[in-house]
Amino acid sequence: MLKSAPPKRGGALLVLGLETSCDETAAAVVEDGRRVLSDVVSSQAAFFSRYGGVVPELAGRNHAARILPVVRESLRLAGIVYGDLGGVAATYGPGLTGALLVGLNFGKALAAGLGVPFVGVNHLAAHLQAPLLGEDPPEPPFVGLLVSGGHTALYEVGPGEPGQDGLLRFRLLGETLDDAAGEAYDKVGRLLGIPYPAGAALDELARSFSGEAEPFTRPLPEGLDFSFSGLKTAAARRVAELEGEGRLEERRSAVAAGFQAAVVETLAEKALAACRKILLKKLVVGGGVAANRGLRELLSRRAAEEGIAVRFAPLEYAMDNAAMVAARGYFLLAAGTTSPPELEASACLELGAGDGR
Ligand code: KG4
Ligand code: ZN
Repeated sequence: MLKSAPPKRGGALLVLGLETSCDETAAAVVEDGRRVLSDVVSSQAAFFSRYGGVVPELAGRNHAARILPVVRESLRLAGIVYGDLGGVAATYGPGLTGALLVGLNFGKALAAGLGVPFVGVNHLAAHLQAPLLGEDPPEPPFVGLLVSGGHTALYEVGPGEPGQDGLLRFRLLGETLDDAAGEAYDKVGRLLGIPYPAGAALDELARSFSGEAEPFTRPLPEGLDFSFSGLKTAAARRVAELEGEGRLEERRSAVAAGFQAAVVETLAEKALAACRKILLKKLVVGGGVAANRGLRELLSRRAAEEGIAVRFAPLEYAMDNAAMVAARGYFLLAAGTTSPPELEASACLELGAGDGR
């Protein structure tokens, strides 16, 4: 459903973003899609570490208990009241249905109560909006590498149509055929005794190692698609061997270093291959794995060698957050897109399907 762009207050439009697609309950206030006034994330990661992963029903219940305090805190930190909001945006997919429903319905009801426009946001689009929250954001077109716990994909990211300033558009170039990179981190981390979510701690363990890493074959070296499930199986086999030899403790960080090298080299090579293929010299990287220090170093170095400018999501906006949702929501609203009240949660939403309809 299309409507004219919402009116601005005092020259600026403040959008409240809501994110509840997985295990982070998040709310943020962003001005004009760029300036983050507040960003509150209440993570359930510690709660779910005892389960080894997210239990969907419990995630939904936790979101329901947390959403109102998180929203209130985001307004308090932004120094505003509900009446200052010019629009509300909430993630409506992809993600866990029961989790998505909490933020989506809270957002729809709040917007209706305030009489401001509401728009549903695609979580994947929001992850690729996050790198643009820094200073001097790069202008599209660029290649977008999305690396999270649920997704690993490459996109050609272009500008919106005339009259849709700042609205990114996406064309899929390649994606994982099986596991996402973050999922592989979490599974291999578990083998090494690291609690869920394991990415950041595995990254640290890998970086603390300076000897000869366990060698793992780079998965699917050709093309722009990814595959991490074979690498995860190879790591599991090696861990079992080392355990049998009584050497797992001694070689734990060597496994982490070898696994990390295989993942980050694959991600870096394919992202640069995508730039070469569609002749673009700009790359942005978003999603939880964009926080990986090994990836940030390697990709920055290799991109510089090829004259490619790379922009990572700022660390605070790499993992799930609502600032990226508010930013994407702002550009949708500014382009005149609002969502109907009957918009449903969409667990398997793809990028390219658009947002909010
Ligand atoms: O984007 P995100 O918060 O949620 C999804 O949309 O999936 O990503 C979470 C994923 C988890 O799998 C987590 O282990 C991984 O990102 N992650 C990392 C790092 N920090 C978080 N993976 C590798 N290195 C990191 N430093
Ligand atoms: Zn995410």
